Amino acid sequence: MSYLRMENLELSGQRVMIREDLNVPISDGQVTSDARIRAVLPTLHMALEKGAAILLLSHLGRPIEGEFDAQFSLRPVASCLEELLGRTVRFESHWLDGVDVAAGEVVLCENVRFNRGEKDNDACLAQTMADLCDVFVMDAFGTAHRAQASTEGVVRAASLACAGPLLSRELDALKKSLYDPVRPMLAIVGGSKVSTKLKVLDTLLDRVDELIVGGGIANTFIAASGYDVGQSLYEPDLIHNAQGLIQKAHAQGGSIPIPQDVLVAKSFSPDAKPQVRSVDEVAADEMILDIGPLTAVDYSEVIAGSGTVIWNGPVGVFEFPHFAAGTRAIAEAIERSSAFSIAGGGDTLAAIDQFGVKEGLSYISTGGGAFLEFVEGKPLPAVVALQEVAGD
Ligand code: 3PG
Repeated sequence: MSYLRMENLELSGQRVMIREDLNVPISDGQVTSDARIRAVLPTLHMALEKGAAILLLSHLGRPIEGEFDAQFSLRPVASCLEELLGRTVRFESHWLDGVDVAAGEVVLCENVRFNRGEKDNDACLAQTMADLCDVFVMDAFGTAHRAQASTEGVVRAASLACAGPLLSRELDALKKSLYDPVRPMLAIVGGSKVSTKLKVLDTLLDRVDELIVGGGIANTFIAASGYDVGQSLYEPDLIHNAQGLIQKAHAQGGSIPIPQDVLVAKSFSPDAKPQVRSVDEVAADEMILDIGPLTAVDYSEVIAGSGTVIWNGPVGVFEFPHFAAGTRAIAEAIERSSAFSIAGGGDTLAAIDQFGVKEGLSYISTGGGAFLEFVEGKPLPAVVALQEVAGD
């Protein structure tokens, strides 16, 4: 399935509206992680080199539609982008009423989610956006799973719509890791709940040779293997599903390993005292907060022997220094490995930053929910729209 690509279009003197995912953390009016802003710079440089007049769109957070709320304003993003881009970025609050933009200019429009009808993919709103530009570029992989006015609706309403280079790169890297993997293929899926990742775990089992689970998800698998998890976060209702996944992995000649040792504490706090326990020795008043040192070595060996690694989610509470060693070991093993490695998800990106392993990954996806939905095999509505308008 193909779509038009911005790289191949003539943009000189054109009003080019680019939808990015600049949904970045902001604290006290300052952007605290600029990873998503840096990721869009090549797209903006390319459009500027082509002589485009740029209208930049993004959402930020989940504000109530129709109500301005300063905490969700993209204004701080404009200052950060201006610095990183090295040129003026004009900020427009009331852009839907019409914006003048000249070739070589970059205008960042206020949060698309302040507009009524954005979430419901209102056709009139999408058409209003489409009328502001000659070419619409969908470059926001992180929101490609949302069928909203500024992602899917405007693609269909625009006179010409294409994929931006960041979106295409993300899709190419994900397709390579999922559909054309160098074997053995390993997925590492951490996070707090099996329930939110049940479908992705099930889909991954059809593709991977080995699946490592971490965090609260691993606790449910540990309980499903018959061990006591004490006060650990886990989902008793999903033990049956976890057992089903373990059996499915075995039936396919793979496995979902259970940690041989874990780090436990008596409270969920950065000051809690870590203790190493064999997985069958967790006491009733203890909670598992990380994998243990022997398991970290086991998992590092699995990573070293893999040809492809997909990573989503930490294996422990890495925000607490005493319980960061497991996730650090995973991150560093991926960094050392020669496997094609791809990582996605907010916590995973934070761990990659914290452990400074960015250079060792083959690809870091800007998507959270979109990354998981792609891995689940779900069609991404904005990408489907790009393919359909291209006549594919
Ligand atoms: C993300 O942070 O995953 C994307 O920006 C999508 O945000 P949303 O879940 O609010 O649509």
